[in-house]
Amino acid sequence: MENSILKAIYQRRSIREFTDQAVEIEQLHEIIKAGIWAPSGLNNQPWRFVIITEQDTREKLAALTKYSHIVLAAPASIAVFLDTTTIYDQVKDHQAAGACIQNMLLAAESLDLGAVWLGQILKNKSAVNALLQLDNQYDLMAVIAIGNPAHHNQKSTRKDLQEFILNQEKMP
Ligand SMILES: Cc1cc2nc3c(=O)[nH]c(=O)nc-3n(C[C@H](O)[C@H](O)[C@H](O)COP(=O)(O)O)c2cc1C
Repeated sequence: MENSILKAIYQRRSIREFTDQAVEIEQLHEIIKAGIWAPSGLNNQPWRFVIITEQDTREKLAALTKYSHIVLAAPASIAVFLDTTTIYDQVKDHQAAGACIQNMLLAAESLDLGAVWLGQILKNKSAVNALLQLDNQYDLMAVIAIGNPAHHNQKSTRKDLQEFILNQEKMP
């Protein structure tokens, strides 16, 4: 496919198995940069990030989710927060966080890295804040586990396009 954006969208899969190869800090910064170029209402940019690469922190973070094996396997994770002191609209700022996270996943794909959006860990978001020594003004949106993919066998499916289109008017 020639269109690089569509290619990244369709090729991206949630990657949960990684090689031992480290991720470069420049790559992590590029991923965050792609995140912050997501749209946000009023260009509010309510997102904040913590980069986690140290073994000890990874182990403690892993203990806070049933997907511990993924956090342990990933050489890096990025925790994405909303700074609740900056929120101007609950729905719109949360939507912006989602756009940010998706940009980050696509950036990882474009850098030939693998990544997965971890949401189950939100059950323990207060403990995540305590681990990362963050005030509760920072509301955890997701942890993105990142690494070099161990393989490219990951498969996913989507329902047929027509199942989602509620109505389609005749084209002029
Ligand atoms: C809000 C949200 C939360 C998610 N939480 C988890 C999670 O905790 N663990 C996990 O392995 N995958 C998680 N995923 C990844 C989904 O399982 C995955 O996106 C879905 O199965 C589609 O697969 P694909 O990303 O490969 O297309 C989450 C995705 C989203 C958007």
